[in-house]
Amino acid sequence: MVKKVKFLSIILAVVLALSACSSSNSSGSEGNGEGASTENSGDQKKVKIVYAGGKDVTSATAKTIKAFEESHPNITVEFREMPSDSGKQHDAYVTQLNAKSSKIDVFEMDVVWPAEFAQAGYTLPLDRFIKQDNINLDRYNQGALSAAKFNGKIWALPKFIDAGMMFYRTDFVKEVPQTWDQLIAKAKKLQGKKGMDYGYVMQAKQYEGLVTNAVEFIAAYGGQIIDENGNVVVNSPDTIQGLKKMVQVATSDFVPGNVTTFTEIESNIAFIEGESPFVRNWPYQWSTANNKEKSEIAGNVGVAPLPAGDAGHAAALGGWMAGINKYSEHKKAAWEFLKFMTGPKGQKIDAIYGGHAPTILSLYEDEEVIKANPYFKKGGFQKALESAVSRPVVPNYQEVSQIIQTNVSEAISGAATVKEAAKNMEKELKAAVGK
Ligand code: GLC
Repeated sequence: MVKKVKFLSIILAVVLALSACSSSNSSGSEGNGEGASTENSGDQKKVKIVYAGGKDVTSATAKTIKAFEESHPNITVEFREMPSDSGKQHDAYVTQLNAKSSKIDVFEMDVVWPAEFAQAGYTLPLDRFIKQDNINLDRYNQGALSAAKFNGKIWALPKFIDAGMMFYRTDFVKEVPQTWDQLIAKAKKLQGKKGMDYGYVMQAKQYEGLVTNAVEFIAAYGGQIIDENGNVVVNSPDTIQGLKKMVQVATSDFVPGNVTTFTEIESNIAFIEGESPFVRNWPYQWSTANNKEKSEIAGNVGVAPLPAGDAGHAAALGGWMAGINKYSEHKKAAWEFLKFMTGPKGQKIDAIYGGHAPTILSLYEDEEVIKANPYFKKGGFQKALESAVSRPVVPNYQEVSQIIQTNVSEAISGAATVKEAAKNMEKELKAAVGK
């Protein structure tokens, strides 16, 4: 024990000496008093930073913080739990950042936020830090990285990438359905078998996840909501066909009767409790479904692309990044944590313990990462990531998302026909984006 303490104190001394060197070389000062806090002065005063993010049901966040603190003894990180619903989490940050609060230093950002947050001046551009520390941006999946760019600057770094997929029970499904019609037939057949209340589970609550489900159905039938040039193209036969299929599935007897209250959380629970042979979810579903302590179906899980429509398979692009609060009083320490979390060590921990798909490409060659998530290695997964479809890229994304959510919900509840919903969406979206 004594030996161990001595060894640890030698390590600590070395780490302190090294970090003293690095903090004196790389002052995080932005030239306006930012970053002038104690962590840059080299006097090794302890700094506490707050990292805010959605509830993490895995041990990944705690493990990342622990590994960071061990390698940065002068920085402690407190995790502030935020709502896991993307829209609610967004609103919580907006309230704080609008009031120029410095209570959080680093925070999670959904891929659809950076343009808005950059424009509102909530986040610090990271370009100077990236340059100072020679971060090689080529190491990232460029699609994930591009979501962090706005007006020629980088406002966040990607933590992990998401793409919508279908998970299924290998003990019930021998031939994976390739099209939505095949899925519907199979779901009907399997519902009721061995205590399975449902045939398929998806996210149909009125919230951000509904937009990603809608984007997938629409793209599978060749439609779009807003095109690459920012034009509203939602009222097209292809989009209507995709939405009709979505409504058919969401109002069928084989999904939960209360599917319009389902987010990823309820979907995960239904699947791991053995209530459905199929679920639409993000990559982390694999690791929770195979967690023997929590899941009743561990070892019987398969993953496949979501069923195809007339235009092929489609996955929505999602994922989370980390950014620095512009009003943080500890910007240099915040950067150190962000750099660690979005770097190879942090992403490796998150992939192994959180089941999240890394944005650092070399981690797909890492044995431990692949052992924890064998399907990451398969060509199909990489293809799904590469061809994933983005949600509309606009600075007023929240407004656009609300319009999509309301109208898709009305189509599902029957308050409007799919055609009416597409027409209303067109009108409202045109007013919101001006095209
Ligand atoms: C996942 C995705 C995110 C998306 C959200 C919707 O967290 O990573 O991009 O907005 O789901 O619920």
